[in-house]
Amino acid sequence: MSTSPEPIGVIGTGYVGLVTAAGFAALGSDVWCVDIDAAKVQRLRRGEVPIYEPGLEEMLRDNAQRLHFSTEIGDALEHARLLFVAVGTPPTYSGDADLSAVHAVVDAIPAAHDRALVMKSTVPCGTGSSLQRVFGENGKQGLGYVSCPEFLKEGSAVHDFMHPDRVVVGDDGGWAGDAVVELYGPLGAPLVRTDVASAEMVKLASNAFLATKISFINEIANVCEETGADVVEVARGMGLDDRIGAKFLQAGIGFGGSCFPKDVDALKQLAGNSGYHFQLLTAVIEVNDLQKRRVIGKLQRHLGGLAGRRVALLGLAFKPNTDDMREASSLVLSARLQADGARVAVYDPVAEEQARALVSGVAFAASPLEALDGADAAVLVTEWQELVELDWNAVAAAMSGNLVVDGRNALDPEAVRAAGLIYEGIGRR
Ligand code: UGA
Repeated sequence: MSTSPEPIGVIGTGYVGLVTAAGFAALGSDVWCVDIDAAKVQRLRRGEVPIYEPGLEEMLRDNAQRLHFSTEIGDALEHARLLFVAVGTPPTYSGDADLSAVHAVVDAIPAAHDRALVMKSTVPCGTGSSLQRVFGENGKQGLGYVSCPEFLKEGSAVHDFMHPDRVVVGDDGGWAGDAVVELYGPLGAPLVRTDVASAEMVKLASNAFLATKISFINEIANVCEETGADVVEVARGMGLDDRIGAKFLQAGIGFGGSCFPKDVDALKQLAGNSGYHFQLLTAVIEVNDLQKRRVIGKLQRHLGGLAGRRVALLGLAFKPNTDDMREASSLVLSARLQADGARVAVYDPVAEEQARALVSGVAFAASPLEALDGADAAVLVTEWQELVELDWNAVAAAMSGNLVVDGRNALDPEAVRAAGLIYEGIGRR
């Protein structure tokens, strides 16, 4: 007879924490979720999900009997040996990660030999060893520590939890690491069992590599524009090489989100703190900053200046299927356009509420065609399916101009041109 998997605690109910909680509950664990935000805990208890993430609401609802929400860390400690830490680690002004939320968790945990922290938050390499030193200084040397970085993507987080490419468990070979490996066992993913520092570095290096891939293809796109090549064709030809791979070769207006910009900066900073200048990452960041602005040049060239021009931004979230606006390219674009005197209308199917807090001076539209009404130019910023599938004849009829800039190379150029519009992609012929 099989026994149910052991109960766990999850500290922090953001994207990573909620998906981890829902995922392990779906695998049969009782999960004790803790968050300092009492209003959020109340909402979660009522079954309301505070973020937009496809499939998450259903997963939380289907496993509600195994999910418990509280503001008290003691509730999790009472029921679980493993406390998964999924609190925010935002950047500080120096580019280092702010670990104050992680330290608050460590401070709140009493000394115990049969409890362990499992670090899901993205932290600098070396955090595990310095936290273990803090345990020692505070008489908590019995606490276990496991680094178990998370690789899920917003927008497909539920799927990614259930089908990970790999599970990385970094520890000193004690009971806690074994217990974490057992919890992930049913997923059947390749396991990398290693030391804490290496596990921490796997996470940072993976995000930095993916960001590098994006900045690389964006620079190739920029060179394509000078040489007459088409970056979509180039990426297809490159991606078929197994050693390169087809994913993350989509050129566009740069990467955003809560992870890549922060983690690339944090790794660069981490290297710098140790006296190493990570030149490649410096370029990755700079290319990304410039890429967000390249659309402005295209608009200026076609419209002969931006003052008084009407521009519609289609999509605001940093990528489709999320309401996350952190480091979204739309923030840079809308501010830059307005600084040059353009009148900006925007539309996003999901992120409007989040965007209203961050974007000022623009007209929020309730539909794509409302945003496009009277526009001189349209810019696809986020490749939501609904925007990729727009009826281009209706778009042409709504606009007063005829320029469509495809900031994600996600549109069919022929379909756009067939409606009498001018198509401009990123690095496309
Ligand atoms: C990223 C990683 O992909 C996850 O593995 C990782 O767990 C996560 O960060 C994290 O550290 O928490 P996420 O930020 O959700 O996930 O989004 P991605 O799908 O990776 O996209 C990031 C940005 O890159 C988006 O702005 C997207 O539009 C852009 N992108 C992505 C491109 O411009 N081109 C591509 O080919 C792929």
